[in-house]
Amino acid sequence: MIYKITYGVPDVSSEAIVNEKKVKVVFLEFLNKIFDGYSFEKLDGGFLELKISLKEKTGYYFGFGDKVGPFNRKGRKYVFWNTDDFTHHPGADPLYKSFPFFIYITKNFKFGVFTDYPGFMEIDLDSEGIGEISFRIKGEGFNQYIILEDNVKRILKNYLYLTGKNVAFPFWSFGYQQSRWSYFTQDEVLKVAEEFRERGIPCDVIWLDIDYMDKYKVFTWSQENFPNHREMLKKLHDMGFKVSAILDPGVKVEKGYDVFEEAKEKYFLRDKTGKDFEGAVWPGRVRFPDFSERKVRSWWGKKVKKLFDGGIDGFWNDMNEIAIFASEKDLENVSEKLKCLKLEDGIKVAGALGEIGEIKKKGRGDEIIHLSGKEHYKLKNIYGFNMIRATFGGFPKNKRKLLITRSAYSGVQRYGGVWTGDNHSWWEHILLEMQRINSLSLVGVFNTGFDVGGFGGNVSPELMIRFMQLGLFMPLFRNHSAIGTRRQEPWSFAKEYEDVMKKIIKYRYELIPYLYTKYMMGILNDTPLVVPMFYHFEKDELSYQIFDEFLVGRDLLVAPVYNPGVNKRMVYLPKRALDFNEKNFLKKGWHLVDAPLDKVPHFVLDGSIIFTQKPVEYLKNSYNEELTAHIVAFNDRAIGYLYEDDGESYNYKKGMYNIYKIVYDKGKVNILPRKNGYVHKKRNIRFKVYTKTSLKEFDMEF
Ligand code: GLC
Repeated sequence: MIYKITYGVPDVSSEAIVNEKKVKVVFLEFLNKIFDGYSFEKLDGGFLELKISLKEKTGYYFGFGDKVGPFNRKGRKYVFWNTDDFTHHPGADPLYKSFPFFIYITKNFKFGVFTDYPGFMEIDLDSEGIGEISFRIKGEGFNQYIILEDNVKRILKNYLYLTGKNVAFPFWSFGYQQSRWSYFTQDEVLKVAEEFRERGIPCDVIWLDIDYMDKYKVFTWSQENFPNHREMLKKLHDMGFKVSAILDPGVKVEKGYDVFEEAKEKYFLRDKTGKDFEGAVWPGRVRFPDFSERKVRSWWGKKVKKLFDGGIDGFWNDMNEIAIFASEKDLENVSEKLKCLKLEDGIKVAGALGEIGEIKKKGRGDEIIHLSGKEHYKLKNIYGFNMIRATFGGFPKNKRKLLITRSAYSGVQRYGGVWTGDNHSWWEHILLEMQRINSLSLVGVFNTGFDVGGFGGNVSPELMIRFMQLGLFMPLFRNHSAIGTRRQEPWSFAKEYEDVMKKIIKYRYELIPYLYTKYMMGILNDTPLVVPMFYHFEKDELSYQIFDEFLVGRDLLVAPVYNPGVNKRMVYLPKRALDFNEKNFLKKGWHLVDAPLDKVPHFVLDGSIIFTQKPVEYLKNSYNEELTAHIVAFNDRAIGYLYEDDGESYNYKKGMYNIYKIVYDKGKVNILPRKNGYVHKKRNIRFKVYTKTSLKEFDMEF
């Protein structure tokens, strides 16, 4: 059941909510029914504060998306104020996104709380240890949705009922993806692509960072470095690659530049005097489209369409917190020595000011005014949400999109996915990314990934491999690194390491039938692909304490290594499972398993069937014709699924897909079509049956 309470008089909307029909509207006093009491008051400085006392004080708190810090969010105050923090250590807050939704779990009581406010907000999850949670916003009012259900799955489904279903990504986006800031010229891009094909390392997507543009001007191409970009794109497509390009919101102030000329004094955010607000980002002096306006989104969408029609297959929306190196106001307050700085100096300004972190945190809430007249501090957290919404609008309607954003707000899943921003080549960040992706799943974002190998810093071969062994199981598997750091393409390491990386990437392609099946069934049923153990094993009390293992779909459990020099791992199994490296059964409970550098501990849970395929160079729109069904049936019984569709349109929404339920019972396989909405070629399936006594193999056409 979903309850809605309105506090104060909200004067802005986040547009996160898409369905409210089954919501029950209640008044503040309702809180007394489910909690031990509450208070709500107006504070000085334009703040509103709600405090709630819990009845059961010893619970677990999960959610808030990709904030850092422990997986269980208990005992800390979190700030929602989208911020670019490119060296975020484990205590950093706020970060790029705002997902003000968490789930509280005790043995007898579970609830989810979505506090919908797009401006400045703080949520304190019992930092005093007295069983009190509090919500503080700067603004006039906000809505809160309290979801009372007795399990996490239903809480999440209700949250997705409110904020919208996830949009499916194209089949090819499940392939390996290679990125770097930057591949500076068209020749360099082609060279990278050729290396993949020559070395037989599968890859589907190459990413273009800011240097493909002319002076970082959005919607342009550098004539100097990409003079024949059309030819380059054609060559890449002919080789089976897709290409994804970066889009930053800041539009360079330059006379005669069409994007700027069309938008000036019309589509840009304003300053307090009513003039277009200006800041410094990569291109130097820039202005920022006000994406909260429909007309601005539609103008931006038309520009996106041109790039798409020109051969770009996907986009990442970056710097949209908004990340601004400096504004005129910052430059007024600098010492005499720095008085010569201008916004035109771009990144140099940030460097010279040396205090970029502090400037960013101020967020320009009071400096910027939206075209609607609203202050930016009330709308800051949905700037990125509206940017990806605008970018989404630029694609043809029935075409799936590879589209990710760095800054986001609840509901973003309707338009695209996210990556976790500028992580580092630090061992600590492997564990962190594992937890962030799982936390993103719990706020309903299913299309997720992180910079494999780490964005900042220099990765070691061992760290690169361990990063890849986690990335391999993520919805998006993208290697990305920053300018000035060592190269991270698989061949940038000694041959023995390259060989391991090649094996890992090939394994990703082997797993595609399982990953895509679980992913698409999850899109249909509102169930994330990657989830914490408790999502599927809620009765197992220990599962709430497992912070360094996760499930991919229901049937595959992964326990990556996240420390150097380690070749063993303690693993907790919530039920009997087949160690998929060693192919031996392990009982429910704790195990110490081998994890040499070329192996990532992962397990297929007993009673399930998972499909793999022969690896391919890159993904066409369907599985390879040679599939293997691994039947894990200790007691000679198992169930599994296979999903398929065209992989590129939204026709699945009209039921144009197949789902087969495969039932194995004492030597017999039964294939039951649960849905038959898509025509596929006949193919051969090799069945491998693992039971307590033997491994049997046989083939079947289907
Ligand atoms: C930001 C992005 C990063 C990108 C860089 C240059 O730091 O997070 O992914 O490579 O900008 O565009």
